Amino acid sequence: MKILVTGGAGFIGANFVLYMHETYPELRLVNVDKLTYAGNLENLAELEGSERHRFIRLDICDSAGVEELLAAERPDALVNFAAESHVDRSIEGPDVFVRTNVSGTLSLLEGSRKAGVRVFLQISTDEVYGTLGATGFFTESSSICPNSPYAASKAGADHLVRAYHKTYGMDTRITRCSNNYGPYQFPEKLIPLMMTNAMEGLPLPVYGDGLHVRDWIYVTDHCRALDLVLAHGKAGEIYNIGGVEQRTNLETVRAILSTMGADESLIRFIPDRPGHDRRYAIDSSKLRKELGWKPLVDFSAGIEKTIAWYRDHQGWWQRIKSGEYRHYYEKKYGKYL
Ligand code: NAD
Ligand code: DAU
Repeated sequence: MKILVTGGAGFIGANFVLYMHETYPELRLVNVDKLTYAGNLENLAELEGSERHRFIRLDICDSAGVEELLAAERPDALVNFAAESHVDRSIEGPDVFVRTNVSGTLSLLEGSRKAGVRVFLQISTDEVYGTLGATGFFTESSSICPNSPYAASKAGADHLVRAYHKTYGMDTRITRCSNNYGPYQFPEKLIPLMMTNAMEGLPLPVYGDGLHVRDWIYVTDHCRALDLVLAHGKAGEIYNIGGVEQRTNLETVRAILSTMGADESLIRFIPDRPGHDRRYAIDSSKLRKELGWKPLVDFSAGIEKTIAWYRDHQGWWQRIKSGEYRHYYEKKYGKYL
């Protein structure tokens, strides 16, 4: 069995590659990544010397390169994590989001169709459903109603993936997961940003009133769900994945601070994100009933494990925070903190 993973040097992709490599001793993994600001080969250091993992630097928008690679590799399955993934960056510059998330996915679909890839698994997001009011959950049949350029580009990709199933009969599957956290997450996202800022004694920027709700899932629980969808999911189906750990951002930040024994006076309220989705909550009962999945790491255990990882890997995030990202961060938050 050979799986081609795209975006496998990023946060969830690297966790997935490490998880699958460890879980299946016979599995061969081809890992394709452009290495944007978010891709980091340090995330794959554990696999150095492995004959079952091969890294290839390639832009998924390079359709000729993708076609050539897929024709040569002929993987049994393709798992597409590669994306521009940060909502705030999509508000500042949507173009690259459409390029990578929509055109890049099209190039992978077309290459897979020509190479006869058996299963195409698209890693999507609950953000394609838009936002919820005070009650209710997103199900797989909720309407697609994206509010940010990031979410709109992911929704566009989902439509293409569906169309390749309907039109060409390809076995495409889509997963839509809620907010992940855990090791190797780039420190521009809420949880690692708050943890690393607190470790450095820096202010913690909370958007708006801090009462926006997110449904958190530990990254390994997401990887276990993807493994099940690859093995037992059905062609043309969508599977929601969520942790049932809904919290306001303020509750999340306070939980991090109290677990770290750090001071709440570090919290700063700053202007809200434009078009900020108020609440996400995922109904993952289809995945639970049909594929027997459930999350194994609850929020407080996951937060403790993640704090420990960022404490033990200060070099990893300090190298990121002292480089290109520092200039982005200072420009974005400097005037507020
Ligand atoms: P990330 O930003 O950490 O990683 C993205 C990876 O894709 C990076 O390694 C980057 O180099 C690579 N990449 C970007 N553009 C590329 C291109 N043109 N060609 C090849 N590689 C490219 O993202 P993440 O948080 O790990 O998210 C992975 C996927 O999961 C995304 O598709 C995202 O939409 C989805 N998702 C994320 C979450 C979350 O909470 N982080 C939740 C649900 C779904
Ligand atoms: O729901 C799944 C999505 O979760 C994924 O598809 C995206 O790729 C991923 O980035 C994430 O999107 P969010 O916008 O929910 O995540 P982020 O970590 O950027 O923000 C989480 C919440 O915290 C959100 O309500 C905005 C808020 N926030 C974020 C940052 C970075 C703050 O209050 N302050 C901050 O500095």
